[in-house]
Amino acid sequence: MAKPRVLVTRAWPAPVEAKMAEAFDVTLNRDDRPLGAAEMKAALTDYDAVLPTVTDRLPAELFDAPQLRAKILANYGVGFAHIDTDAAKSRGITVTNTPDVLSDCTADIAMTLMLMAARRAGEGERELRDGRWTGWRPTHLIGTKVSGATLGIIGFGRIGQAMAQRAHHGFGMRILVQNRSAVAPEVLARYGATQVASVEDMLPECDFVSLHCPGGAVNRHLINARRLEMMKPTAFLINTARGEVVDEAALAQALWFNTIGGAGLDVFEREPKIHPDLMGADNLVMLPHLGSATRQTREGMGFRVLQNLTEYFQGKTPQDKVA
Ligand code: DGY
Repeated sequence: MAKPRVLVTRAWPAPVEAKMAEAFDVTLNRDDRPLGAAEMKAALTDYDAVLPTVTDRLPAELFDAPQLRAKILANYGVGFAHIDTDAAKSRGITVTNTPDVLSDCTADIAMTLMLMAARRAGEGERELRDGRWTGWRPTHLIGTKVSGATLGIIGFGRIGQAMAQRAHHGFGMRILVQNRSAVAPEVLARYGATQVASVEDMLPECDFVSLHCPGGAVNRHLINARRLEMMKPTAFLINTARGEVVDEAALAQALWFNTIGGAGLDVFEREPKIHPDLMGADNLVMLPHLGSATRQTREGMGFRVLQNLTEYFQGKTPQDKVA
């Protein structure tokens, strides 16, 4: 029997590409160029499986060809708001993602941003490399203490919980949680956490707010000017979730007018473009979407996609089916 035809939309870690090629008739993206809408649309009619990722866009209109060959979209990544899952489902296409394998590394990056922003590490490094450091002095680059502070976590799935684990057990932080559904008491107890009824209830209480909810239309601009105003003037906002969750123009205002203490961002509304008003803000740390960027995790994500594909083509329900 012919092997299923599979398109990998970006370059992947070499060990995963090699394993993938053993089991499937794989087309790789050697030059790692993002595919355009027309190419992606053609892929749905030419391949049995398309393996997209966060840089791809699969809106409803891509699924309107009369004949689609694609049977599964096995996404490389946990977030899948870039795929119109209703449109895929209506054409009988299964969608999977890669949870679990990236929770620790994404939480590590959220901690990195929180510590860097609070302790002014980015500013310090820039000063030192620019040759502007004049030596130790009691009032130099005074930051904010993280240990023992209050952290608000919005979205208490796997990554939110990995963040709580680090913050509570490693840094003795008090944890407040906002989540769309009720979190089981034993889960909250694991992190000494308290669930609050609304984002509004949480924001005025927090020294740090870390976002771990999904992106997409439902959470677009969840953090907007009104909610930024509810934060303490000394508080920090951390976003490792999706850029669209934060209104970047409103955040830039808050940073420039110091109505919040600072922010740490790993994700942006129009990646790889950065809102120009964020660029010069000194009380902001920015990273280029590095949440899952470790060798172990990126390989783990690839093998998880391979497992989902294998299960699908064996006639089973893939373990990470989301639609
Ligand atoms: C994800 O998994 O959704 C990340 O943003 C890419 O690793």
